[in-house]
Amino acid sequence: MRSCDVLVLGAGAAGLFAAGEAARRGRRVVVIDHAARPGEKIRISGGGRCNFTNFATGPDRFLSENPRFAVSALSRFTARDFVARIDAAGIAWHEKAAGQLFCDGSARQVTDMLVGGLREGGAELWLSTAVETVERGAEGFRVRTAQGEVAARAVIVATGGKSIPKMGATGLGYRIAQSFGLRVTETRPALVPLTFADQDLAGVRPMAGVSLPARIAVGKTAFDEPLLFTHRGLSGPGILQISSYWREGEEIEADLLPSTDLARALAALRGQSGRQALHTALAGFLPDKVAAWSVARAGLSGRLADQSNARLDQLAGAVHRWRIKPVGSEGYRTAEVTLGGVDTAALDARTMQARTVPGLYFIGEVVDVTGWLGGYNFQWAWSSAWAAGQAV
Ligand code: FDA
Repeated sequence: MRSCDVLVLGAGAAGLFAAGEAARRGRRVVVIDHAARPGEKIRISGGGRCNFTNFATGPDRFLSENPRFAVSALSRFTARDFVARIDAAGIAWHEKAAGQLFCDGSARQVTDMLVGGLREGGAELWLSTAVETVERGAEGFRVRTAQGEVAARAVIVATGGKSIPKMGATGLGYRIAQSFGLRVTETRPALVPLTFADQDLAGVRPMAGVSLPARIAVGKTAFDEPLLFTHRGLSGPGILQISSYWREGEEIEADLLPSTDLARALAALRGQSGRQALHTALAGFLPDKVAAWSVARAGLSGRLADQSNARLDQLAGAVHRWRIKPVGSEGYRTAEVTLGGVDTAALDARTMQARTVPGLYFIGEVVDVTGWLGGYNFQWAWSSAWAAGQAV
């Protein structure tokens, strides 16, 4: 039987980084993944440029049953600490929207940096090797894999969540946690497009492909980010963000023109160019198709000059307060992340070690810490991996 000090399960963002950190500290490390290549999600992230962190990282950018859990790891290995690694590797980057950092070149540079780091430390990377079970052994753990059993003093579970099964997501980490008696919170697809019932789709389908700035809210939570109409419902950054907060049966409210008082603007225009059709006037503020659909939804027609203030208020309501009840989401097939995971109450916030199972660690997406869109999920992967890497 092969043996090592630290066996890392999963060669994604968290697993690769933790392995490099543990190897730097002189640990004999083996990383196992059933995929043929490491870092598959890094490769496709950020449209191929990997939004690898966000300078606005803080616990308020994460969802968890215990939002304070992430504080320790995030403050001990920060966005700036990761940027220092990126700089040291000579990877050029830029800040896109406020705080969001992307590679100038390709996301592969990040994977190459991580794999280079673990190889420098002498860690082994076993690819195309499925992990089957993890059990307690005489001194640590025995892990059954497609390439035989491995004995390890410590095991770091970095197998990610359930999102995008086509890319290798299996939910194995949750089963490992449960087999050791650790609780797993409810899991659901997050950062995911929302879908509509057929009767609602009929109205929005002609706008598929149209994107516009919006303010999207569920209850008291709101995001000012673009919305995209799709053939199945809604997507775009604002919808992905709100999907982490939305639950079946709830309505979302979208303000399709958040920076304008539409009723006032149209009333002013009525005095100057009242002869134009109402939907033409509205198309001065919104994409054509959205303007025509909004006028129809408000039950109005005719020229701008024919509209009373009350009717303009009615139209403004349809634009500023569009309420819709999605029936579901596109699910794990397209979700960027999994909400929920290994209960943080079962883990030590400083080390990511299971409180009741010395030597067993959980890091990255498998833990019940889920970031907003914008580089926060990778930062959680780096921070939690660093914490475990210093402790094993
Ligand atoms: P990750 O999923 O990366 O790695 C888990 C590894 O475990 C995989 O390599 C998998 O093959 C392996 N594994 C699973 N089951 C196994 C088994 N049974 N046996 C062996 N191996 C197994 N985030 C962000 O911050 N910025 C961004 O730009 C993006 N962009 C983005 C785009 C898209 C399309 C997606 C789907 C996701 C993102 N994300 C993102 C989210 C980000 O990719 C995610 O949060 C991290 O990859 C999580 O890192 P982990 O290492 O925890 O899991």
